[in-house]
Parts: sequence; C-alpha cells; structure tokens
Amino acid sequence: MIMVGSSIHTLRFFSLSLLVVSLVTLSDGRSVNIKNYLRNDLLSILCRSEDKHLGMKVLNYERELTLPIEAKISKTSTFTCNMEWNGRIHKLDVFNSERDGKVGKDLKWSIQNDRPCLWNYSTNKYDLCKYSYS
Ligand SMILES: *[C@@H]1O[C@H](CO)[C@@H](O)[C@H](O)[C@H]1NC(C)=O
Repeated sequence: MIMVGSSIHTLRFFSLSLLVVSLVTLSDGRSVNIKNYLRNDLLSILCRSEDKHLGMKVLNYERELTLPIEAKISKTSTFTCNMEWNGRIHKLDVFNSERDGKVGKDLKWSIQNDRPCLWNYSTNKYDLCKYSYS
C-alpha cells in the first residue's frame, strides 16, 4: 500500500516537474545589450521573444537596454526588435539561438544609422558589422 501510494506520488511529482520545465523559460546567463549610436536621434525600441513582449523603451544617444537571454528546451529562441528613428522602422533579430548559441558571452549591439554592429571581445570595438536591418 505504501509503495503504491508513493509511486503515484512520484509519478505526479514527475509529471508536474515536466510541465514546469516545459512552461518556464530558464535564464541562459547571458544578456543582449542594445546601445543607441545614432548620431542625432532618439531610438524607440520594442522587443519581443516568441511568447513575450518586452515593452517600449526610448533610448537617448549612448543609452542602452539590456535583456536577459532565455534558454528554451529544444526550441529555437529569438529576440526580435522593432526600432524606430527618423520616422522609419528598422527590424533586427538581436538574438537567435541558432545563429548566436555558440557565442559564450553577452551580445552587445551598437545601433547605427546604416547598420547594426556587434561588439568584438578581441578588439574591444563594435567592429562586427556584417549585419543589416530588415
Ligand atoms: C574580432 O576581431 C579579430 C581581429 O580583427 C578577428 O580575428 C576576430 O575574428 C573577430 N571576432 C569575431 C567573433 O569575428
């Protein structure tokens, strides 16, 4: 009797744990940092992940926004930001687990008029500029 009760309890606990793991997103320990390097403009920024909107922020020149990266179990996770300045929307995936999963450090973006650049930890500059807005 005790054995049966205990295994039902164990089973319940196990299913509950699985449910919690699949619902809760875990912090991955890293962050995405987004800095306004637009020379003369305020940066209005609205970011979202698959399941969460992160609210609108307005950044002055050289001000930044930091978002913790969430780890999802067996799922691509992305952070997409819509950024507005000078009357136009510029869209950027600031984090994509397939593209950035191997980067072991925080992702630091410099938002510039013509393109976004990522911080290079070897040169200590925002010199990784192969990205573009869409
Ligand atoms: C950072 O810059 C160095 C020196 O230019 C370069 O060798 C390296 O590939 C860059 N890092 C990344 C992640 O591209």
